[in-house]
Order: sequence, then C-alpha cells, then structure tokens
Amino acid sequence: MTAEFLDGKAIAEDLRKEIKQEVDERIKSGKRVPGLATVLVGENPASQVYVRMKHKACQEVGINSYAIEMPKTSTQEEVEKKVKELNADPNVHGILVQLPLPSGLDEEKVLNVISIEKDVDGFHPLNIGRLAQKGRDPLFVPCTPAGSIYLLKKVVPKIEGKNAVVLGRSNIVGMPVALLLVRENATVTICHSRTKDLPGVVRQADILIAAVGRPEMVKGDWIKPGAVVIDVGVNRVEDPSAKRGYRLVGDVDFEEAKEVAGVITPVPGGVGPMTIAMLLQNTLRAAELAD
Ligand code: GUN
Repeated sequence: MTAEFLDGKAIAEDLRKEIKQEVDERIKSGKRVPGLATVLVGENPASQVYVRMKHKACQEVGINSYAIEMPKTSTQEEVEKKVKELNADPNVHGILVQLPLPSGLDEEKVLNVISIEKDVDGFHPLNIGRLAQKGRDPLFVPCTPAGSIYLLKKVVPKIEGKNAVVLGRSNIVGMPVALLLVRENATVTICHSRTKDLPGVVRQADILIAAVGRPEMVKGDWIKPGAVVIDVGVNRVEDPSAKRGYRLVGDVDFEEAKEVAGVITPVPGGVGPMTIAMLLQNTLRAAELAD
C-alpha cells in the first residue's frame, strides 16, 4: 500500500489566497492594514530563517510586518519594554516573540507581557489555559498545532472517537496539539522519553502526530496500517550529495511509513507551510478584534 500524501504546501497556498482576499477587502473598506511585529532576540540561525519566512509571507498577503531585532545581550527589562511598546502600537495587531529566547531571559515572563488580544502565537498563559479548559475558548491557538489539525481535518472530518497518539509534549507543539485533539473528542495519548513500549503505543494510533525532533525515529512497523500520520518534525541530517550539505527529514521514516500509513504529510511541504498560514490567519483575526 502506498499512502496518500497530504500536501500542506498546496493547502496553505489556498488558505493564503483566501487571507489575501480578506485583507484586500479590509483595506478597500478603509479599515487598518493588519500588522504583525516579530521580536527576534539574538542570532539563532534557524530562528532568523523562520522569522524571515514569516515576513515574506506577510508581504505576499498584504499584511504589514515589523521586524524588531535585539542583541542577545538584551536584558529581561529591555525585552519586556519592547513588547509593551508593541502592545500600545495601534498599527501592530499581532506580536510574535520568536522562541527560544537566549539563555538568561525568562520566556514565561516575556510571554506574559504580550497583550492577549495580540497574542497571535497563542502562547500567553491565559490563551493556553483557556485551550486546556472545557467551555473556554482561547483568542488564538498556537500556529503549528492549529495547522496540524487543519491538515488532519482535510482527511479526517470526524476526529471524534479516534485514537490519537501525540509524540512529544513541548509547549509549542506536543501539548497544545494534544489539547486540540481532546477538544475534537479524540482519545489522546501523549508519549515522551519515559513512555514504555513506544512502538506498541504508536501502533494503536488511528492518528499519529509526531513532534519530538528526532530524525526518522518512527519506523514503518510502528504504524497501524491505514493510519493518518502528521509529521511535525523538521530535522537536518548530513547529506554530502545535497547542495547545502544537509537535507530536511521529519520525525517519521517517510520511505517506510508511506508503505503502511493511509495518509502522510511530507517533510518539507507538510505542516511547515501551514504554520505560517495560521500565523497570517491569526494576525488577520487580531486586526478584526481591534476594529
Ligand atoms: N519557535 C519554533 N516555533 C515557533 C513558533 O511557532 N512561534 C514562535 N514564536 N517561536 C517558535
């Protein structure tokens, strides 16, 4: 059996077109142009690439973006002061503090300062807290988890009652995606480094979301035949035959998994493009909230 590929790039592209249309309509009707501010502290090369991609995507859909770059020697006070300035700026509807922050800075305190109405990453403790509670709704949902569920729903419109296994429990992906699956009435198992018989647990999954950051860890024989596999991992592995000397692989061994799974997302071109599309959508929504 060969799995169906779930093409995140194409699905994100469609979504971006819809967002561009909505942005154009806003502007035509005289409303403020949506604005996203990114705060990048230090010079983490991967973070620099991600932030650059976010600005390019904003530009393509007509969202204004403001790049704040601060040296890695910035103090906690300086970073918080910058976030407060952005909170007060009416041209900025969304604020994204790129993570991880350099060591020495308190991430939790910085995220806590972001106005929840501008928290387009959905990482403010109030938004995450609401996500975790029944009958409460966050203003924004974190982008990679939201993008993963958006893709999943394309092939599994009714998630209710399915066995979902989440590999990884990070604040950015694993935990919020598990919370979203619970909200969809899936039966959710969260696996991590202390999980016993990981292949056996993963084999129970109708839906597998892999977000551990370990290249090709999930093997074909871990996967239940016909399962839907959403691979969030983006890992660099050395490859002398590649132009850059490395290639990107997911947390799932794609070549093996595609022979067993029913549906699988590729890396790159799966969840990655969805993350950015969700950020654009959240920024548009933040602008609407401010109208
Ligand atoms: N670092 C890795 N992923 C993300 C993300 O979605 N948002 C932010 N702010 N930082 C990240």
